[in-house]
Amino acid sequence: MNKKVLVISGSYRKGGNSDTLCDEFIKGATEAGNNVEKINLRDKKIGFCTGCYACQNTGKCIQKDDVQEILDKMEEADAIVMATPIYFYAMCGQMKTLIDRTVSIYGHMSNKDMYYIMTAFDGNKNNFMRTLEEFRGFMDCYSDLREKGVIFGTGVYEIGAVKNTHHMKDAYEMGKSV
Ligand SMILES: Cc1cc2nc3c(=O)[nH]c(=O)nc-3n(C[C@H](O)[C@H](O)[C@H](O)COP(=O)(O)O)c2cc1C
Repeated sequence: MNKKVLVISGSYRKGGNSDTLCDEFIKGATEAGNNVEKINLRDKKIGFCTGCYACQNTGKCIQKDDVQEILDKMEEADAIVMATPIYFYAMCGQMKTLIDRTVSIYGHMSNKDMYYIMTAFDGNKNNFMRTLEEFRGFMDCYSDLREKGVIFGTGVYEIGAVKNTHHMKDAYEMGKSV
């Protein structure tokens, strides 16, 4: 209730399956009285981390793109949702690229509830675990990022296919529970 919630939608498909589940989550979280903001990575310019470590002295990345504004919002949020289509049994490149860029706030970001939304054609949720493990590796690098909920959006391929599934209600309920 009354938490700052940041939803980061990774898919390039506007209105795609993971993006649609983000919106269901947002509906639930907003109805529950939270302050929710959504960022679509497809609208943002995000360069690769070059590993220069300039940020270790300054706390800021030297690249002039859209990442700093996203990192500021991540630091401010009480809860963060990361949503990705599954690409070759991994998170999408744009989400991984953002995660790599969090190195500039390494040691600063803590105490957040984390939620994950993943969608894929595969109907077996066990095959989503490799992608979830990637997110868990990210959390392990920061203090007190807590995994609070996961949507395994199984069996959805075409844009909009998710609308006919129980994942919609699951995402809404997860939002309500924030
Ligand atoms: C590059 C690419 C790789 C994909 N790899 C997988 C995969 O490994 N397993 C799978 O079940 N679906 C795979 N898919 C299907 C997508 O995960 C599926 O269509 C998903 O619902 C897309 O989510 P979106 O609509 O949010 O973009 C892949 C799709 C693309 C474009």
